[in-house]
Amino acid sequence: MQNENEEQNKKHRQLETFRTEDKNKSLTTNQGLKVSEDEHSLKAGQRGPTLMEDFHFREKMTHFDHERIPERVVHARGYAAHGEFELYESMSEYTKADFLQTPGKKTPVFTRFSTVAGSKGSAETVRDVRGFAVKFYTDEGNYDLVGNNIPVFFIQDAIKFPDLVHAVKPEPHNEMPQAASAHDTFWDFVANNQESAHMVMWHMSDRAIPRSFRMMEGFGVHTFRFVNAKGKSHFVKFHWKPKLGVNSLVWDEAQKISGKDPDFHRKDLWESIENGDYAEWELGVQLIEESQEFDFDFDILDPTKLWPEEDIPVKIIGKMTLNRNVDNVFAETEQVAFHPGHVVPGIDFSNDPLLQGRLFSYTDTQLIRLGGPNFHELPINRPVCPFHNNQRDGYGRQTINTGQVSYHKNSLADNTPSTSTEEEGGYVHYQEKVDGRKVAARSDSFKDHFSQAKLFWNSMSVVEKKHIVEAFSFEVGKVKNKDIRQQVVDMFGHVDNGLASAVAHAVGVHAPNASEESTVTKSSPALSQENKAKLP
Ligand code: HEM
Repeated sequence: MQNENEEQNKKHRQLETFRTEDKNKSLTTNQGLKVSEDEHSLKAGQRGPTLMEDFHFREKMTHFDHERIPERVVHARGYAAHGEFELYESMSEYTKADFLQTPGKKTPVFTRFSTVAGSKGSAETVRDVRGFAVKFYTDEGNYDLVGNNIPVFFIQDAIKFPDLVHAVKPEPHNEMPQAASAHDTFWDFVANNQESAHMVMWHMSDRAIPRSFRMMEGFGVHTFRFVNAKGKSHFVKFHWKPKLGVNSLVWDEAQKISGKDPDFHRKDLWESIENGDYAEWELGVQLIEESQEFDFDFDILDPTKLWPEEDIPVKIIGKMTLNRNVDNVFAETEQVAFHPGHVVPGIDFSNDPLLQGRLFSYTDTQLIRLGGPNFHELPINRPVCPFHNNQRDGYGRQTINTGQVSYHKNSLADNTPSTSTEEEGGYVHYQEKVDGRKVAARSDSFKDHFSQAKLFWNSMSVVEKKHIVEAFSFEVGKVKNKDIRQQVVDMFGHVDNGLASAVAHAVGVHAPNASEESTVTKSSPALSQENKAKLP
């Protein structure tokens, strides 16, 4: 289905130039030679061996032999679509990012949704976190908002990510189970890394079995910075709010659909776009002034904490519409390379130690996944603005850089790429003052692992609590090692005694000896309004 705004979409026009139309053409080799025979290889005699001389056979087979690239180390199972982002109101008070200045401005986007743990061919309605990655093709370069559908994360420091993923993926000795959370290593990791408590509560909730990509929220998770033209900075968290609202499957449905239609989510997105029923999300931001960094009872750099929306409201600033399916899943969905470090002037990082580590990991993995240093030249990854620098050569290079000089600075040529001042649009990192000793320890302000997990539990309705108890019982019930089951129950006793006792009963271990009253059958009181006065 063609979108009426396609003519204005710069990314679409750029991709057009790379499309090929193979219909009604002569079949040729990659060298352009017309082929006369594509069903029988060249043989010595009709019943004899195939000859090496058959260049068409060799080329066809060699290319086929190399068709697969490594799947993503996480988020392998994904699906994507094109669209646009339209700004509602200028954010110039907070950021100088060009695509957030002029109300009505449209920016092309490409958005990929994914599960995290499953392999590329796994079922889509499994209990798992969902990736929600958006590439904005802005006039100042690509800006990637690489988020998830859950606002917090399992760990606080990137150095633990390989451990987390090793625990979540199928166990190495027998490559089972494919499911993210139904095994000993996952729950062993959880029990030994109690900062995961808050995320695990979300993971065991209905949020981890969304009804549709179109009915999921998205979160940048980390604290980022907005910086305005005067150099003033605000801390910012990003939110995507689906226009269709947040809707989930129930566990029984999710399991049945996994068996009957493992492509359920991609089909839903593809068909809705084909039918002209475009998927829409509004972009929201939460903002905290620099001076308020320490005003909260959690550390705003801690990615296991959210900023309560009651205290720091989400300001809706624009809308994303996904309105065009890809032409080729490999060329677009698989070859797209997102990176949380792809920023534009006016958007910067915080010192969140999880975010800081992510800034290294993405290019590093894409160098192997996408075969060398030139994957930015792949059509889906090219910015819509021009890009020029002194990088040269490498596997798969397509650009033919001209001229004698490929270094900065030089006296031999006067037309080599030159740097830009901040006023000319050059990216200047925010000048945050940093001091202290080099330490590997974590700040004490990151040590409260249960308060927000409790708030989450207490904000659930009775039905939602029942679903959480059932999810824990199902997943932890699959753990073979009784000590791990016990450790998990003890850990979640710190969230709610009733929750832990119900799970203990279901999985055959002792209930924790907490004296607190059970809240399994109670809905919760409203969250604190205390910090409202501090809002920007
Ligand atoms: C994908 C690393 C945390 C969201 C990936 C990939 C790696 C990675 C290596 C594969 C990229 C590729 O092959 O193109 C890490 C590390 C993390 C981390 C080291 C923590 C230290 C997170 C968090 C989020 C997130 C907190 C959400 C806020 C995603 C998404 C994708 C992804 C959405 C898939 C992107 C796509 O659709 O291509 N991550 N990740 N990751 N990550 Fe992370």
